[in-house]
Amino acid sequence: SQTDKELLYKIHEIANGFFQEQLQTEEGRTIGYSYFKERELRDDIISKFQLGYAPEKKDAFTEFAIEKGYSKEILEKSGLSIFPENAPNGIDRFRERVIFPIHSFSGRVLGFGGRILRNNVKTAKYLNSPETEIYHKSQVLYGLNQSKQAISKNNLCLLVEGYMDVIALHQAGIEHVVSSSGTALTVEQIKLIKRLTENVTILFDGDTAGIKASFRSIDMLLSEAMNIRILLFPDGDDPDSFARKHPQEYVENFIKTEATDFIDFKAEILLKEAANDPIRKAEAIRDIVKSVAFVQNALKQEVYLKEVATKFGLSEQSLFNELDVQKQVKK
Ligand code: CTP
Ligand code: MN
Ligand code: MN
Ligand code: MN
Ligand code: MN
Repeated sequence: SQTDKELLYKIHEIANGFFQEQLQTEEGRTIGYSYFKERELRDDIISKFQLGYAPEKKDAFTEFAIEKGYSKEILEKSGLSIFPENAPNGIDRFRERVIFPIHSFSGRVLGFGGRILRNNVKTAKYLNSPETEIYHKSQVLYGLNQSKQAISKNNLCLLVEGYMDVIALHQAGIEHVVSSSGTALTVEQIKLIKRLTENVTILFDGDTAGIKASFRSIDMLLSEAMNIRILLFPDGDDPDSFARKHPQEYVENFIKTEATDFIDFKAEILLKEAANDPIRKAEAIRDIVKSVAFVQNALKQEVYLKEVATKFGLSEQSLFNELDVQKQVKK
């Protein structure tokens, strides 16, 4: 309901202030703040992204919110507290984690991501807010609020996987960047970007998961008539680790010069896999033509198809035939 929604916005604002204050306590400084320092974040960036800390005490926030007059019902609906049978007074969802608030386009806090402090195999690295009346994961892009002006100004949006990738690029002076937070890119998210620009450069992690996500995102973005380029960082780096290894100018230049169009990107990966096997090579070409079939403009489609023909030394006619087949499949 509308009143619930207003309360949920309010309680997220309260929680955001709480987590940021916790970063200044003795525990928060020695555990949370020092974690951010290990990751080489500057203080101005910690403030800009309103990073925080959720303490070890299992009901620290729940108790704080109850004292402020929030009901158990609204705390449960917010996803910030849980009420298991053995703890009827409620415990915090986020405990002993550094906190990344997730903002709407207009800057309201909708939810949080929380990262564990030491990587271990048993606990998921990030814990995120559940779906609530105000937080719909598929409709939010992390960093959009902090990046929207730079995206308009550059007429380009860099798309990365993670929270820290957005933050590290901002720290490196590259501010036109958002993250899909590790989930498959959705049409709603693309429409948010499209309010600002039609140009996207995909900068996913240079691992198998990153390649897979890139392939899927390419087709999604082409379907929404976006212009795309792609770059995976070498040696398994992600934008955060890469940006910390190299000077700002080098990173900027690397993104500008190394990002390729989707045909070159897919060709390089698929042909490496195909080696000298002609059947797999044909499959690779069909896979690329399948992406061309998602291009929304007939003229652009033809230009891309000619690029494929030249690249593989094939006749345009056979590729146009294949394109027609792919378009039929999609109908
Ligand atoms: N993610 C998540 N839950 C997980 C793992 C990942 O929600 N258990 C999301 C987070 O938004 C994360 C993004 O997916 O930022 C990318 O995942 P990954 O590349 O594994 O993490 P990094 O962002 O590189 O995390 P870090 O640098 O902090 O290790
Ligand atoms: Mn809604
Ligand atoms: Mn990853
Ligand atoms: Mn990563
Ligand atoms: Mn990372």
